[in-house]
Amino acid sequence: MTDTAEPRAAGSRLVLPRYERPVGLHPPMDDPGYKSTALRHPAEPLVLLPHRLTEVTGPLLAASRVTAADADLTRRHAGEPLGQRIIVHGQVLDSDGRAVPDTLVEVWQANAAGRYRHQVDQWPAPLDPNFDGVGRVVTDSSGRYSFTTVQPGAYPWKNHYNAWRPAHIHFSLFGQAFTQRLVTQMYFPGDPLQPYDPIMNSIPDPKARQRLVSRFDLERTEPDWALAFHFDIVLRGREATPFEDQDDDDE
Ligand SMILES: [Fe+2]
Repeated sequence: MTDTAEPRAAGSRLVLPRYERPVGLHPPMDDPGYKSTALRHPAEPLVLLPHRLTEVTGPLLAASRVTAADADLTRRHAGEPLGQRIIVHGQVLDSDGRAVPDTLVEVWQANAAGRYRHQVDQWPAPLDPNFDGVGRVVTDSSGRYSFTTVQPGAYPWKNHYNAWRPAHIHFSLFGQAFTQRLVTQMYFPGDPLQPYDPIMNSIPDPKARQRLVSRFDLERTEPDWALAFHFDIVLRGREATPFEDQDDDDE
């Protein structure tokens, strides 16, 4: 693992921090069980490029661009979306358990019937006119985030015969720069589809796989309103959340 935490001078050149993907924790870019990875994984070893100012200074993700309304996926339209209302919350942490504030957390998900509002998603489940399925929130000074949405449904995909994705919410985390984006998926406890899911099973370590399963949270569940689920995201280290190739956004 190459991990230089701070910029340093190497002769006349400025060497900026970079982070190489650790082996064994995250899913491989080419996984036989997850068929579309065969078409899009790199055929040659990756070349690590030095980060220049463009990569480490952009984009400018000012927190002021994200409003409180962006964290509530149930209030974007005149009516409420159908489905079980849920609160998803947690903390973004580094490898030492320290909170990571000011991180943009973006989510996207299928509706309660398991359908995305996307032109390539045409399976016969209804769209919900009151649900777009996208939201975002910036972590607070304690690294915490919270958003309100509806429980997503399972949906079929073409990976193999009778393939169904377990219910999940896609997460993208941005740090302060383009090079600091991580993508993962959150699952729900007790979902019977999880053992059959090639995407989840492409994570080599079964314990790491379970770190993507949220925990039901009765304490944060609101009476007569919404169930709550807790999902912490650890960026690095032994307890790191598995992250996926950024091109895997579509399943
Ligand atoms: Fe998905």
